[in-house]
Amino acid sequence: MGFLQIQFLNLLAILVIIASSQSSLSATPPNFPIAKPNCTDRCGNLSIPYPFGTTPECYQRYSFFVTCNDTFNPPRAFIQNSSIEIRDISLDGQLRALQFIGRDCYSQNGTRVSYNKPWIQLPRFFTVNNTANKFTIIGCDTYGFIAGWWLSRNYTTGCTSICYAEDDLIGGSCAGLGCCQIPIPKQVWQVKLTLKSYHNFSNVSSFNNCSYAFLVEESAFRFSPENLTNLRNVKKLPMVLDWAIGNGTCEEAKRNASSYACKSVNSTCYKPDNGYGYRCSCFEGYQGNPYLINGCQEKKKKKNERNVLSSKRGVLLQEKITRRRKSLDTATIFSELELQKATNNFHKDMIIGQGGFGTVYKGFLSDNRIVAVKKSKKVNPDQVEQFINEMIILSQINNRNIVKLLGCCLETEVPLLVYEFISNGSLFEHIHDETKAHSLSWEMRLKIAVETANVLAYLHSAASTPIIHRDVKSANILLDDNLTAKVSDFGDSRLVPLDQTQLSTMVHGTSGYLDPEYMQTNKLTAKSDVYSFGVVLVELLTGKTALSFARPEEDRNLANLFLSIMKQERLFEILEDNVVKQENNEQLMKVALVAKSCLYVKGDDRPSMKEVAIELEGLILGEKHPWIQTEHSGEDKESMLEAGFSGSINVGEGNSTSIGFDSTSIGFDSVEDHIVPSEGRGR
Ligand SMILES: *[C@@H]1O[C@H](CO)[C@@H](O)[C@H](O)[C@H]1NC(C)=O
Ligand SMILES: *[C@@H]1O[C@H](CO)[C@@H](O)[C@H](O)[C@H]1NC(C)=O
Ligand SMILES: *[C@@H]1O[C@H](CO)[C@@H](O)[C@H](O)[C@H]1NC(C)=O
Ligand SMILES: *[C@@H]1O[C@H](CO)[C@@H](O)[C@H](O)[C@H]1NC(C)=O
Ligand SMILES: *[C@@H]1O[C@H](CO)[C@@H](O)[C@H](O)[C@H]1NC(C)=O
Ligand SMILES: *[C@@H]1O[C@H](CO)[C@@H](O)[C@H](O)[C@H]1NC(C)=O
Ligand SMILES: *[C@@H]1O[C@H](CO)[C@@H](O)[C@H](O)[C@H]1NC(C)=O
Ligand SMILES: *[C@@H]1O[C@H](CO)[C@@H](O)[C@H](O)[C@H]1NC(C)=O
Ligand SMILES: *[C@@H]1O[C@H](CO)[C@@H](O)[C@H](O)[C@H]1NC(C)=O
Ligand SMILES: *[C@@H]1O[C@H](CO)[C@@H](O)[C@H](O)[C@H]1NC(C)=O
Ligand SMILES: *[C@@H]1O[C@H](CO)[C@@H](O)[C@H](O)[C@H]1NC(C)=O
Ligand SMILES: *[C@@H]1O[C@H](CO)[C@@H](O)[C@H](O)[C@H]1NC(C)=O
Repeated sequence: MGFLQIQFLNLLAILVIIASSQSSLSATPPNFPIAKPNCTDRCGNLSIPYPFGTTPECYQRYSFFVTCNDTFNPPRAFIQNSSIEIRDISLDGQLRALQFIGRDCYSQNGTRVSYNKPWIQLPRFFTVNNTANKFTIIGCDTYGFIAGWWLSRNYTTGCTSICYAEDDLIGGSCAGLGCCQIPIPKQVWQVKLTLKSYHNFSNVSSFNNCSYAFLVEESAFRFSPENLTNLRNVKKLPMVLDWAIGNGTCEEAKRNASSYACKSVNSTCYKPDNGYGYRCSCFEGYQGNPYLINGCQEKKKKKNERNVLSSKRGVLLQEKITRRRKSLDTATIFSELELQKATNNFHKDMIIGQGGFGTVYKGFLSDNRIVAVKKSKKVNPDQVEQFINEMIILSQINNRNIVKLLGCCLETEVPLLVYEFISNGSLFEHIHDETKAHSLSWEMRLKIAVETANVLAYLHSAASTPIIHRDVKSANILLDDNLTAKVSDFGDSRLVPLDQTQLSTMVHGTSGYLDPEYMQTNKLTAKSDVYSFGVVLVELLTGKTALSFARPEEDRNLANLFLSIMKQERLFEILEDNVVKQENNEQLMKVALVAKSCLYVKGDDRPSMKEVAIELEGLILGEKHPWIQTEHSGEDKESMLEAGFSGSINVGEGNSTSIGFDSTSIGFDSVEDHIVPSEGRGR
């Protein structure tokens, strides 16, 4: 589970970064839609929030037009059709751009070999941020100017640096020796950088023959004497631009409601530091994009579930994952935004399932993959742990009969798990929906039972650490288009440490499927899954639900009803109509006996999941190769029928039945021994 380890550590790192990041230029955590509907909100890994956009319907005005050039890998974004490359757009009104640096280079004999003079021309409504940037020149025979348009007037200022020995230069200091830096005024929107040399580097050519000039984000540049030479390889450096809406004040803007840009409720208008135009922001306690209708959303109460990850348990999980590192898989981390888009903002129409602790949505990823996104209902640290638990468990197993985990998202208050979408619904629907049930043949039912039994057996034994599913039921067995079983919902699973075969734990599970022994003792063993599987087998046989209040009180619980019927030798009266055929009576009987043995009150008396799987598989093979059976079938049938219909229920006596389990005692004389789970005890 290399991926999980890597991703999980990444997650921790990401969460730490998010938590500690205060910079206004840091990308806003994409917890909300940032672009207009149907608009691209990304260029490579750059977020493009409205009023910016890549097409006319998507930007507010041409000034905010972004060209995304995907001939580059990763794609690069530019302001309009300019060469000003965008690295970062913040809804606080800043934008980080990359701009060319100016250079003036000479050869040993004093002739100029290269020269360029950048002219930074910003669109209307952009200005160079005067606090974050500095005009900087580098060189030892150098002076440079910055000429700018300051609103409608222009200004010029400059910097000089003359030095005679490389040793004089001081790293980290830009005070005139090899490096000179000056601030720029507010509201500059066009700048031209000019470089000049006093003596064409003739006095310093032993160590310096180029000058450089640039407007740079001060914090992104630290002078080093080596920059005299190594800037030769640098084309662009970052600078911070400010953007604003319009050129008027808030008051002026509000007069014209249709053009007023602060569209969201719970948003407000404010005047930028440089006083030019206006900007919008969400009210205190709200976050999002104030320029979009309904863009501002109430901030979620951050209940420190991140803390869950860094908590003791988080650390333990992390260690667990590290220890279990195995093969690399391809699960990924999804952003919340991506999943919001995929599920139409978790729209109720996209709900495909609702479990005790979460809701499952269908989602369409931008790469056309269809997924199921599982989201917890409430913020509750326990549930977060359940999700993480499920993630760990699923990451350990790779089996065609288990729903594949594609990745997760822990940006949100409740982590989201992303699974492959299983197209054909749950076994529950196929058994209990009348039309579907009609076309679910006995052969198919048996195949599904075998697949489920095998995968549970695998979880119990083959996996490196035994895993008890704890919530085996027909609703948790999904089916794909070929009716292949895919076991899902591992949120309740418990990994069983190898030195322990049972765990004391709060009772989890679903009424109708709950192991009576587990309910009484709270001791969880693999045999609890066997019991629940037995109930599923009975569902497959009878087409009845595990629990039904439409049935008389004593028959509400299907397991009880079934055992009582078996005792009365009336099995064929409760079988689903379309499973009964002349030639499969024996098979049905055998499966019923398997189910019955799974439902023994005492876990120890129940067969293991592996034994169940082998037995059921044997029935399918027998079916496919009837000639194998011929020699013994008559006899087996006898004993089977005898055992099953004797009234003594002593199925497991000795090893004489074809079921072949090593059950020694039967454990119950009457159905009353089967404890009926009381309502509300389950989930
Ligand atoms: C978004 O696109 C879909 C399909 O392309 C269309 O049905 C829907 O009306 C569009 N929504 C908006 C707000 O343009
Ligand atoms: C975006 O991609 C570039 C190049 O791959 C990388 O340097 C930068 O850190 C990425 N930014 C984010 C926010 O991921
Ligand atoms: C994208 O960049 C390439 C290479 O610089 C350039 O040739 C092309 O014209 C650009 N495309 C757009 C749409 O700007
Ligand atoms: C950008 O487009 C404008 C008009 O659309 C044009 O006048 C200008 O020359 C273009 N600039 C570049 C660098 O292509
Ligand atoms: C100066 O040097 C450059 C190459 O370094 C050469 O092309 C040029 O001809 C030289 N000029 C003179 C006047 O020597
Ligand atoms: C500054 O403005 C004046 C008058 O508008 C103009 O003549 C001058 O060329 C400008 N300076 C620069 C460096 O562009
Ligand atoms: C300046 O030189 C230092 C030391 O070599 C280097 O790390 C840094 O990247 C250089 N600055 C730029 C902008 O290239
Ligand atoms: C503001 O923009 C409008 C056109 O959008 C223009 O007519 C007006 O002169 C501008 N005002 C200032 C102070 O730049
Ligand atoms: C946010 O907007 C909603 C809907 O207009 C309103 O009910 C609520 O009071 C607003 N919140 C604040 C803090 O103004
Ligand atoms: C410049 O950028 C900083 C953030 O880097 C911001 O706080 C400040 O308000 C900006 N200055 C102006 C004049 O907008
Ligand atoms: C169903 O079976 C067919 C034929 O074996 C196969 O091509 C297809 O991929 C299967 N579909 C699924 C969802 O596994
Ligand atoms: C059951 O099988 C075991 C060996 O598998 C055998 O020792 C034992 O005698 C058998 N019991 C009966 C009642 O046949």
